[in-house]
Formats: sequence, C-alpha cells, structure tokens
Amino acid sequence: MDKFNIAIDGPAGAGKSTIARLVANALGFVYVDTGAMYRAVTWSVLRSGLSPDQESEVIALTERLDIRLAPGDQGQQVFVDDQEVTSDIRSAEVTGNVSRIAQIAEVRRILTDKQKRLAADKGVVMDGRDIGSHVLPDAELKVFLTASVRIRAERRFKEIQDQRSEVTLEQLEHEIATRDRMDEQRETSPLVQAADAILLDTTNMTIPQVVEHILGLCRSKVGGG
Ligand code: DC
Repeated sequence: MDKFNIAIDGPAGAGKSTIARLVANALGFVYVDTGAMYRAVTWSVLRSGLSPDQESEVIALTERLDIRLAPGDQGQQVFVDDQEVTSDIRSAEVTGNVSRIAQIAEVRRILTDKQKRLAADKGVVMDGRDIGSHVLPDAELKVFLTASVRIRAERRFKEIQDQRSEVTLEQLEHEIATRDRMDEQRETSPLVQAADAILLDTTNMTIPQVVEHILGLCRSKVGGG
C-alpha cells in the first residue's frame, strides 16, 4: 500500500492511542501520539517549578524543549532533552494540568509545526484532538473515535489501576468529563470532528474490531493492496 496519512481524533479514553498504534503496526507506518507531546511540555513545566498560568515562561520553555518520540517494545517512548519520560507523563499531576497547557495558543502552534514536519513524508498515523481539523487537514483518512463517558472511564480504570490504586471509577468518570469539556471549549483548535472525518463509536466494539474496521476504511479509501 502506498504511504498516506491517517488522522485519529476523539475525546480522552476513546482508545485512540491503542488503536492508532495497532493500525500503524499493521500498515508499517509511523505512530505519532500528539497527546504525549502536550504531556511532555506539561511535565517539563511542572518540573521547572512553573505554574501553567505563567504563559510567557511556558511558551519560552516549549520553544527550547527537544521532544522526541521513538517506537519501543511496550509502545511509544517519549524523551525530553534525552531524558526518558514515558511513564512520568502519565502521572495524575500531569494529567490534571495538561488541558491548561493545551489551551495556550502559542504552545499549540509550536507543537503543531512539529507534528506537521513529522507527517511531511507521509506514512503516519497521528492521534490527538485536532489532527484532522487542524494539523493534517489533507490527511487521506480521518477517523473520529468516540465512546460513552462511562465506558471510557472503565477502560482508563483498567489501564491505570497499577499506578493510581486509590482512584475510583466515579472519580475517573468526573476527570474525563471535565477534560472533555476543557478540550471542547478552548478557543484554539478545540476538540471537534472534522467535516470529512468518519465517526466511529467504539462503545460496543472490541479493539481488534475497531482496528479491522479502520484497515478496511484504508483499503477502500486508498484503493491500495
Ligand atoms: O490523549 P491524551 O489524553 O494523552 O492527551 C492529553 C491532553 O492533551 C488532552 O487533555 C488534550 C491535549 N491534546 C490536545 O489538546 N491536542 C492534541 N492534538 C492532543 C492532545
């Protein structure tokens, strides 16, 4: 199959990263998790002792950061200035602050430029919130993944039980709904389904079913073989 770009957007916990990674593996494409980039900036901001409200300092820091994504055995590895932060960027503290960082227009511009460069040679599966609508408006295939808040909270619950054993399902449901609202309501590139994106509600679908469905869309959209 010739190389092309796939944009996968949707709210928190819709399964985007798992699905995007599996689709990329099946096609031999590169997987780019843009949420990890916003998380890497947030991790650096907190580690520098800055508050997300110190916008000009946050922007200057974002400009300086070298954020690198690399394929690893257990999924994508994330490096900030050569320090591995793959698991650190999933902490509750980063998760609780990332939407505020992602609201800063200039941070988005810096990361969006980086994301466009990563996709310039095609053959990329990129997941995020604004990929089809803003970062890669010309992506050959755009998918908007969604699922009910309850099922998304249940999936996250299973995923993070090891790291945050004290968290309850209700708490997670509340966190996810709050993050959805912030992501949907921000002024710059809010979470929105692109007009030409295909909506896929995964509430009652298994991971292999979703992957197979998207690979089917690839075959019919791009007509490759
Ligand atoms: O997918 P995730 O939960 O790792 O994303 C973390 C945060 O980053 C999420 O709250 C919204 C933000 N984000 C964004 O604003 N734009 C993107 N393209 C990807 C993520």
